[in-house]
Amino acid sequence: MKKPNIKTDLPGPKARELLARDALVVSPSYPRDYPFVMSHGKGAEIWDVDGNRFLDFAAGIAVCSTGHSHPAVVQAIKDAADKFLHISSDYWHEAQVKLAERLNELSPMKEPVMSFFAQSGTESVEAALKLARYTTGRGRFIGFLGGFHGRTMGSLSFTSSKYTQQKGFFPSMPGVTHVPYPNNYRPLFSGADQGRAVLQYIEDVLFVHNVPASEVAGILIEPIQGEGGYLVPPDGFLQGLRELCDRHGILLIFDEVQSGVGRTGKMFAAQHWDVAPDIMTLAKGLGSGMPIGVVVAKRSIMQRWTRGAHGNTFGGNPLCCAAALATIDLIEREYCANAAKVGDYFILKLRAFADKFAVVGEVRGKGLMLGVELVKDRASKIPAKKLCDALITRAYHNGLILLSCGQSTLRFMPPLVIDEGDVDEAIALLDQSLTEVLASEHAY
Ligand SMILES: Cc1ncc(COP(=O)(O)O)c(C=O)c1O
Repeated sequence: MKKPNIKTDLPGPKARELLARDALVVSPSYPRDYPFVMSHGKGAEIWDVDGNRFLDFAAGIAVCSTGHSHPAVVQAIKDAADKFLHISSDYWHEAQVKLAERLNELSPMKEPVMSFFAQSGTESVEAALKLARYTTGRGRFIGFLGGFHGRTMGSLSFTSSKYTQQKGFFPSMPGVTHVPYPNNYRPLFSGADQGRAVLQYIEDVLFVHNVPASEVAGILIEPIQGEGGYLVPPDGFLQGLRELCDRHGILLIFDEVQSGVGRTGKMFAAQHWDVAPDIMTLAKGLGSGMPIGVVVAKRSIMQRWTRGAHGNTFGGNPLCCAAALATIDLIEREYCANAAKVGDYFILKLRAFADKFAVVGEVRGKGLMLGVELVKDRASKIPAKKLCDALITRAYHNGLILLSCGQSTLRFMPPLVIDEGDVDEAIALLDQSLTEVLASEHAY
């Protein structure tokens, strides 16, 4: 791994010019943290328009799973583009059928599945919600505090990781009740098993007083909570949720938009606990950067959707399907195992980093979906939000691209192609950046 190479002030002159043009004509709603202006990328390296080189540990928010412009993915897209760019979901083409067949082979459902194709995570979630309502005839849902499922009106009604995502848009879809996501680091309930406590709360409080189980169509959950802080649920929790759903005829919907397709060192995060959802949503890493989302559901459920019940124009786009097929091949053959192996190395390095800096509250995650929660001090556990923001920006200036999640958690979601050398480089840049930020008196 070559060292990131920052040759200009950041942003450099070409980036500054583009930022000025953008400010006049592009929506200011995007939650941008620092002014990285992309020129091109390769693997886990990206360059800005001024020729500065960065190590990318954000992968376009966990999207560029096979690295930037993997040659096999690019070739698959080019081959597909030579044939046709679009036909619409009113017709058939082979890549879409093949992709559905591949998902049927790989799915964690342990029974045959069918797929509905979309273009993004949020559109997959919308389709999953519609499928759950349509097939159960029930109207209500349960979601989790801290969850992120997208920003369109249905998915937004579940999204609750940051209030800014909701502010100004009320009312969104009615019928959604949020419960806490079990968090052993910040327990809300008494007792050692936060997962069990949340299950009891749903069953003994919510179902009894306010939300009759018989009216609940589905429970939507991220098997590892992403935007809300990279929270790994306690062992037994997802299994308990599965049992609760089975008892009440509720559909269990796993949102694997961020955690799926090899990111956690298994093809799907749910497989860490061997729990089968009824419905699963995918997007992000599936297309290596091409916009594709999928709802995968047990055949026994999806086959109940009748003709015209749901559809779209762009779903199953041939270029996106070609990219997804190439991506799945690479992930299955090589990068899923690599995420597990390099992830194990990475988390050890992050724990050593935590030993050095008292502002690290917790290191957590699986595979290459890793989080480091920053706190004012370990006793109070007060989230060090300003420090986290300052560190992300400092890391950018030092050549490391990172994002945050939760209130004050650094999130590491590099392309799944990285090696131990890349991890060493990232840790060195992180160490340097945190040392510099802590040395500045306005750090937090
Ligand atoms: C778990 C999860 N679900 C859904 C979404 C929404 O995906 P998109 O931004 O493609 O609409 C995201 C995006 O971050 C996500 O992390």
